[in-house]
Amino acid sequence: MTKCFSDETAADIAAVLLDWFSRNKRPLPWRIRYSPYEVWVSEVMLQQTQMERGVSYFQRWMRRFPDIRSVAQADEEEILHYWEGLGYYRRARFLHQAAKTVVEHHGCELPDSKEKLAALPGLGAYTVDAVLSIAFQQDVVPIDANVERVFSRLLDIDIPIRKKEAAEIVCRESLRILPEGKARDYAQALMEFGALVCGKSPKCTECPLAHWCEARRLGVERDRPVKEATQKPIPVISAHGVILCQKHVLLFQRPAAGLWGNMWEFPGIDEVRGDPQTSLLAALKGLDLEAEVLAPLGTVSHGYTNHRLTAHFFRLSLDEALAMQDISKKLADVPHRFVRWDSTTELAMPAHHRKMAERYFLRKTRIHAEQLHL
Ligand code: ADE
Repeated sequence: MTKCFSDETAADIAAVLLDWFSRNKRPLPWRIRYSPYEVWVSEVMLQQTQMERGVSYFQRWMRRFPDIRSVAQADEEEILHYWEGLGYYRRARFLHQAAKTVVEHHGCELPDSKEKLAALPGLGAYTVDAVLSIAFQQDVVPIDANVERVFSRLLDIDIPIRKKEAAEIVCRESLRILPEGKARDYAQALMEFGALVCGKSPKCTECPLAHWCEARRLGVERDRPVKEATQKPIPVISAHGVILCQKHVLLFQRPAAGLWGNMWEFPGIDEVRGDPQTSLLAALKGLDLEAEVLAPLGTVSHGYTNHRLTAHFFRLSLDEALAMQDISKKLADVPHRFVRWDSTTELAMPAHHRKMAERYFLRKTRIHAEQLHL
């Protein structure tokens, strides 16, 4: 079985791919100026989400942070707020740190060398190669899942794509095909082609590369790329209380280090072993807060890394005689805030808390205002 292209095939594939891209590329906002900053941000965002959502996050981000200096000068809470919903908040923090380094050491411009880019916080091999090829037109190929899919089909790579040998084939052959000086279009053409034609369900009948596709010839295109056996997500149960006091809701801030660092959430526990309601009340009692359940508010499901979280929420009441100041006194050692119940949108919250806040405070604003006598 061939695992490399002949020189002639390599040149033909590159030409057909570039021609396809010139006719089919989507008008994306970072494809206007190709500024290194815009390419960088778009690539980090697209590692988190689909194109359509990525574009809207990108546009909102650029309205607020038009250049690297504005990112460096913002505080982390605001950065997280603009990232909220994309997940993997560590990436947003790295972006922030990297922007500060660029302002301090590189005169506010992203450097154009592999070594300097790779030394910035959070820039892994893929992002470095994406910036070098798409922004700086350097002859490298960023390899993402789209590119892996295209090559695993063209060459019929029948070993798991995560294996070193498979990665080496994709890396070597994608570089062999790269037409000199055309790295920007070539890199984007591969990704775009992987997204629009050679997707998970390949559109082989309209594929301009079908003629050279070994997997198609063998009828195994849907079995490529070969995946390693996937692990089942680890189930996690959490429990949280919605506590209102004088038209304000009590939110805790998570520790800076760890999952959803520094974000704001309804008080509760991350990992419940027994009954969610009992565990929640016990945890609050540990903070000297005697709470009662007024009503269960249902659950929110949320997947993160290799976990599947089911978060239980309860509307709680504390002793009615307690004012916000009394509660704050009890929570002297816990970073917390009382936020007007209709202003939670202004804080960065983990996705499951945001979903509950929207469900509870925003969509049902009027009903709850009446029911709760706010
Ligand atoms: N996916 C990630 N980066 C991309 C890009 N620059 N063009 C198309 N798809 C992408």
